[in-house]
Amino acid sequence: MSRVSRREFICLTAALSFLCRFPALAAQGIAGGKAASFPETVKILKQAYRAEMVAHNHYLGYTGRAVTEGFPNIAYLFRAFAVSEAIHANNYARLLSTMEEAVGNVPAGVEVKDTRANLKTAAKKELEKIETTYPDFLQALEAEACDEAIVNCMYSWKSHRQHERKVREIDRYAGLFFGSVASEIEGLHFDFHVCGVCGSTIDEPPAVPCEICNKSRSHFRRVPRPAASG
Ligand SMILES: [Fe+2]
Ligand SMILES: [Fe+2]
Repeated sequence: MSRVSRREFICLTAALSFLCRFPALAAQGIAGGKAASFPETVKILKQAYRAEMVAHNHYLGYTGRAVTEGFPNIAYLFRAFAVSEAIHANNYARLLSTMEEAVGNVPAGVEVKDTRANLKTAAKKELEKIETTYPDFLQALEAEACDEAIVNCMYSWKSHRQHERKVREIDRYAGLFFGSVASEIEGLHFDFHVCGVCGSTIDEPPAVPCEICNKSRSHFRRVPRPAASG
């Protein structure tokens, strides 16, 4: 079994066992005082929170820049990703709160360049999360087996992987062929909907339960389009 697929198997098993035991866990919670039992988990949750908030803040900056450059669909894509990242961050903040742990500081400031560069940077960061950041987090979480932490990391990892093929195309072509990539994206017609439980981001109204967290489609919200530049 490959490195990643082994991790996924372990984490899916953990997720399944968590969901089966959910009523009991909901009654127990991971109450304050438990943080001492999960030192590595707390560390990972804080790192994950920071990574998601940094991404959220950057996507908001990229959104504004794309609007002013006249790329409404690219701006909308960035805004949808910003919403999804905020849901991931909030999930980690909620878990840390139940463990009576603070989320920690998030670096201030964002580096916003032109949309061509922002698109390329976004694709690289997304691939980093898919290939390295989340597999490493999930592996580090295995030892303490804190179910809630593993499930939420799986939610984040899977929602980042939803658009892996498109992200790889953008990473490959957004530099030299930005004009073609931009006009392809700007020629599309879509509305983004994001699941409030796991951050799953889809480009049409949900017809079935969430493919990632399996919760009802009622958890999805349509992401409003950014206002056009005046
Ligand atoms: Fe995320
Ligand atoms: Fe979901």
